[in-house]
Amino acid sequence: MAIARHPGVYPAALEPATPMARFGPSHSAMPMVCRDNQSVYTEGQTRWAPETGPGRIEMTADTLHHADSDLEIHKVVVGDFENNVFVLRCRHTGDAVLIDAANEHDRLLELARSLGVRRVLETHGHWDHIQAIPAMREAGYSVGVTAADAAMLPSYDEIIGHDEVIEVGNLRLRTIVTPGHTPGSICFRVEGKPLLFSGDTLFPGGPGNTTLEGGDFTTIISSIEDLLFGPLGAETMVMPGHGTDTTIGDESPSVQDWVDRGW
Ligand SMILES: [Fe+2]
Repeated sequence: MAIARHPGVYPAALEPATPMARFGPSHSAMPMVCRDNQSVYTEGQTRWAPETGPGRIEMTADTLHHADSDLEIHKVVVGDFENNVFVLRCRHTGDAVLIDAANEHDRLLELARSLGVRRVLETHGHWDHIQAIPAMREAGYSVGVTAADAAMLPSYDEIIGHDEVIEVGNLRLRTIVTPGHTPGSICFRVEGKPLLFSGDTLFPGGPGNTTLEGGDFTTIISSIEDLLFGPLGAETMVMPGHGTDTTIGDESPSVQDWVDRGW
């Protein structure tokens, strides 16, 4: 049976039903107070309440997706194609980056201002991932993208290369350029943590769509096998550009099935 897909999105029917079940209890089930120089957050409460700072506004705690003693990952889903936008935030310094200024710029600006975002990183240049870039740049946020996808953006500030380190407070994001979905698709791994932002390169159930201009199935399989499944541990959480999380260990056994089916 043919399954309709939009750019980069894997069939919902193939996605795991309960992503939180993959890495333990929901944060809401584990009340915890976290305090640093910018905010107080009590998991289990209903509000995020930044303490100080110009332009800081109260927002709901609904965006918190994952946390440990060093970091928070916030997630919002925006636009008609339900793009995931993540904010990775260092709990020790309050610095943060936003991954994929996809759409709904007012919402993203509120999130960015509230969480201490300093810059924006783009996983690739497909139009559903870049709609909020002009507003984010106008508000002063630097936007980074790979050289191969830069021309797909309306504008940008910096080029990101392969195997670079992007410091986010005390956190280090390692770049992994993974062509195939687009020529310049890139993933971001949090060093020292089993966490990967995969953009539209890897989803629960397979690789991203390679039928659009610039896509190549053989290339994306090589990227996934050589740069993700090879080096990353099975426990690594994968947070894709659409839909729910998965892990390297859940996906890697299926790569030959994907090659055999051809998508
Ligand atoms: Fe895409």
